[in-house]
Amino acid sequence: MSLHARRRAALDRWLAELAPLWMPSPFCEARPAWCQTHPALAEALLGLDEPTLAALSADDDAARAFLIPHLPALAELPALIELPAREAAPAPVSRAAWQFIPGRKAAQIDAFAAAVGAPQGPLVEWCAGKGHLGRRFLMAWGGEARALERNAVLCREGEALSARAGLAQHFEVADVLAAEAAASLAGAHAIALHACGDLHRRLIDLAGPAGARALDVAPCCYPLGADDRYRPRGGDSALVLDRNALRLAVTETVTASPRLAAESERLSAWKLAFVALREAHSPGAAYRSFKPVPADWSKRGFAFFLQSLAAREHLPLDPKLDFAIAEAAGWARHRAARRLQLPRLACRRAIEVWLLHDLALALEGAGFEAELHLFCARTLTPRNVIVSARR
Ligand SMILES: C[S@@+](CC[C@H](N)C(=O)[O-])C[C@H]1O[C@@H](n2cnc3c(N)ncnc32)[C@H](O)[C@@H]1O
Repeated sequence: MSLHARRRAALDRWLAELAPLWMPSPFCEARPAWCQTHPALAEALLGLDEPTLAALSADDDAARAFLIPHLPALAELPALIELPAREAAPAPVSRAAWQFIPGRKAAQIDAFAAAVGAPQGPLVEWCAGKGHLGRRFLMAWGGEARALERNAVLCREGEALSARAGLAQHFEVADVLAAEAAASLAGAHAIALHACGDLHRRLIDLAGPAGARALDVAPCCYPLGADDRYRPRGGDSALVLDRNALRLAVTETVTASPRLAAESERLSAWKLAFVALREAHSPGAAYRSFKPVPADWSKRGFAFFLQSLAAREHLPLDPKLDFAIAEAAGWARHRAARRLQLPRLACRRAIEVWLLHDLALALEGAGFEAELHLFCARTLTPRNVIVSARR
């Protein structure tokens, strides 16, 4: 059994044991069933004051330490999700050629190129955007690169940047999900930074049959384009991940500006006010998700918001409804959900690392040697793992 198979199997067992904690979202179910089986945990979470909640939400280690007395299995988590870091110094580049990228992105790209090193074959950048990553490789190691990107405007802008830097980077307006995309991988070293969902899965599925020589991809946005149930690529698994689980894997604690954070809290509280009324109208009915709410509804006050959402979702409102009470109920539910969400958040990296081992297993099955490694700190980007494969 390969390392990836053993680690995925260990995560299978761990995630199955903790499934009652991470599967139900307290934003959909006011009191997930685990509140009955772990009443002391529910009580401890619901009693958290705002500063403590903020501190625990911002620090995974502190949250785990808080939760372990109630959920001892969490003590095993660091060993299960540990991945090796790979850092090395890439060849230097001139700043002048590198000045067109916002700072964080440049730092991610620098770290990615350093971790991957010199290309093993002709470079193909998958879902290249403006091709910053491919350009960084060319600046470090020379040669030529192809950049596949669906958006023609990004291709044109990328072409202008590489012409200005005097680099042999060739853009192709291409849909990587189309059948023709496979041909571009023959003999190539494919690279992809933050290819969303289906786009990285497509690359991993194609790499073997299309004859790629090497591949380095930093996956992100796992739910994008996913089926209702994730199809394991690395052989059978007892674990069933639905789209909510894939969403959880990439849920981040909001680090928006105080104004945006306050707006997002209010929107959540108002939506939960609607959800509470809908539940009162149809007791026992399963939670139903609803379409995004138009941005201007929340700018026009709670009553307008609630009436508009109720009308769209066919929920009759009591003409004597007290809007202040309904809003307060939404806020109470929002505050509780943020607290009861902590055990779920503690499990999210386990789902992501499970998915990464699954992708590595798929590549092993296609004849590659596959590795997972961290290419930068999570503070630079939370999607900081490269799936790396060599023939
Ligand atoms: C998250 S961005 C990443 C871009 C770049 N790799 C980066 O890190 O800045 C994803 C890119 O994939 C492109 N894209 C989306 N669907 C695509 C498809 N089917 N074929 C090719 N490119 C696609 C988008 O236009 C976008 O530029």
